[in-house]
Amino acid sequence: MANIIDGKQISADIKEELKQEVARLKEVGHSCCLAVIQVGSDPASSVYVGNKKKACAYIGIESLAYELPEETTEEELLAIIEQLNQDDHVHGILCQLPLPKHINEDRVIAAISPEKDVDGFHPQNVGALVIGQKGFVSCTPAGIIQLLKRSNIDIAGKHCVVIGRSNIVGKPMALLMLRENATVTVCHSKTSNLKELCSQADILIVAIGKPRFIGAEYVKDGAVVIDVGIHRDENNKLCGDVRYEEVEPKASYITPVPGGVGPMTIAMLMNNCVEAMKSSDLC
Ligand code: GUN
Repeated sequence: MANIIDGKQISADIKEELKQEVARLKEVGHSCCLAVIQVGSDPASSVYVGNKKKACAYIGIESLAYELPEETTEEELLAIIEQLNQDDHVHGILCQLPLPKHINEDRVIAAISPEKDVDGFHPQNVGALVIGQKGFVSCTPAGIIQLLKRSNIDIAGKHCVVIGRSNIVGKPMALLMLRENATVTVCHSKTSNLKELCSQADILIVAIGKPRFIGAEYVKDGAVVIDVGIHRDENNKLCGDVRYEEVEPKASYITPVPGGVGPMTIAMLMNNCVEAMKSSDLC
């Protein structure tokens, strides 16, 4: 029987801590503002953006919503970002991805001031993570580190296998685990001996993007299993990349879907906003 890592509770704890910190900073005249940009009306993006605005309101962060039409040009979007970069009232800028096909995502990410890049996607922040310098870190992998630490799971010296090599999750996850002194293996769609490698993991982080792909045969007895996936199965029920009911009896710790990694992303985004404000106003 595994211990269930309660991401809902841990994210609620972090949001509560942030709410208190924001209230304390407000009393001494510092307020925090996040600009949230959405281009087009992709329904999944609208849900994510709505949840981000709700979290801001709960914590006491002002959110500025930019809901731009699908036809917005790259130049128009870059001009809005430049204006927000210059605006001292705005501490964080988030442009919800994916963007419409006619807009170059890399160019948009690079246009956001690294000091306001609360998503941690700007090449300067990614580079800082690689060489161990201070900077914003992508929210989902940062949230996974919090799940492990707040569950008192030791990372140093452990073999961590990350499945997935995206810029948002897999790559920063591997770098963060390395920073925590784990021995890290990164697997991906072209890895030939996936099962063999996964079954050597003390900590298995699954961001493969395939519903219920990882079964018990991929998991060592007593491993910690972190499931980043979120999908709807054939019965419209939420599921992850891991076959939970099969893997849970073998694992020492496991994240459920929903209620595991998911809620941590927004908690860490809020954390990054507060950090952005603290380094702009108080230094
Ligand atoms: N799309 C999916 N996840 C994310 C995220 O964390 N940030 C942004 N900006 N877009 C996303």
